[in-house]
Amino acid sequence: MSHGRFDNPVTATMTGILDLFRKQKLSERLTDQDSINGKTCIVTGANSGLGFAISVELAKRGGNVIMACRSQIPEAGEKVKKASGSEHVRMLRLDLSDLASVHAFRATLEKEKVRCDLMILNAGVATPKARKTGSGLDEIFQVNYLANFILLHLMLQNGTLPGRTCNGKRRPGDPVPRVVFISSDSHQGSSSIDYDEFGKFFEYGIKKGMNNYSYYKLVLNTMAVEFSRRINKTETDVSMNVICPGPVNTNIIRNAPWLVRIILRGIFSITFQSPEKAAKAVIYMAISPDFEGKTGEYLHMFNPKKMDPKVYDAEEGKKLWEHSADVWKRVDPKAAMCKV
Ligand SMILES: NC(=O)c1ccc[n+]([C@@H]2O[C@H](COP(=O)([O-])OP(=O)(O)OC[C@H]3O[C@@H](n4cnc5c(N)ncnc54)[C@H](OP(=O)(O)O)[C@@H]3O)[C@@H](O)[C@H]2O)c1
Repeated sequence: MSHGRFDNPVTATMTGILDLFRKQKLSERLTDQDSINGKTCIVTGANSGLGFAISVELAKRGGNVIMACRSQIPEAGEKVKKASGSEHVRMLRLDLSDLASVHAFRATLEKEKVRCDLMILNAGVATPKARKTGSGLDEIFQVNYLANFILLHLMLQNGTLPGRTCNGKRRPGDPVPRVVFISSDSHQGSSSIDYDEFGKFFEYGIKKGMNNYSYYKLVLNTMAVEFSRRINKTETDVSMNVICPGPVNTNIIRNAPWLVRIILRGIFSITFQSPEKAAKAVIYMAISPDFEGKTGEYLHMFNPKKMDPKVYDAEEGKKLWEHSADVWKRVDPKAAMCKV
């Protein structure tokens, strides 16, 4: 049986607060001069919290921002335009709990000949009990993990994410595209991946829901490292790095039971970082020359760190890749993996 590091929101919150007292080693490395002028940036879950703040900051720094969202279209885009002073912002529909929406998103990018220079896989959900998606999968499993795996395959295949290893054509001198996975340091200490329950739907309550959140961040990180290992064999073709933004005062607890939600909202608003502040470390990893050509790296806010040792295990990565492919094929007649 899989388990994550935390099974109660109070311990998770306290650990987050303690993290805020750590020195932010590289915070000085991000300067106002760091820009992403004219580059296409896709941010998932961009209508709220961290994703919204990341979108504003990328737009301010010259990016052409595509906000990939399932709600608040077009209002959130208008707000990002206003907050950033940039008109180079638009929204595309993407619901990661619906595979038809993931395919439609890919098709739109292809039709519009989008070439993504920066992909921020930010969307995430925390559910207090099991919820089933239309594909019969657990929502946290699909949204926080599998749909990201699928989206990367689809975008690499049609060259929307221009990695040469798959299908993409990169003009000489074009920068290496970057993918940033928004994770959580709560993945540290989660159990090994349980392949008996992988991709299967079980009923559970709040304790396991909390557990699943940190557990699927471990699964996500293992996938990020395996993806990078496969496509960056001799040189960095697509840079794939992982970051934990630290504790952020966002809507992530929106699905918690009402009393827990009220208490946590109070604690979050007093002690947690604002999304704007937390977004800075993500922007650093996403656009700084310090990460040019780097892959498989991990930041905990502005601190370079190692992920849980299990994340780097090549055998585990291979197994996860194969099981993810099997689940994808089982639930999606259009499943097609990149040959990497
Ligand atoms: N807040 C923290 O303390 C913290 C700490 C570490 C890591 N993180 C990570 O940061 C990321 C952003 O979360 P947040 O804290 O900013 O929370 P948030 O305000 O709740 O934002 C989550 C975003 O994910 C989107 N999303 C959820 N389900 C989706 C789906 N099926 N398809 C597409 N988008 C979906 C939400 O869209 P809707 O508004 O339409 O639901 C929203 O835009 C998550 O990956 C989270 O795990 C957060």
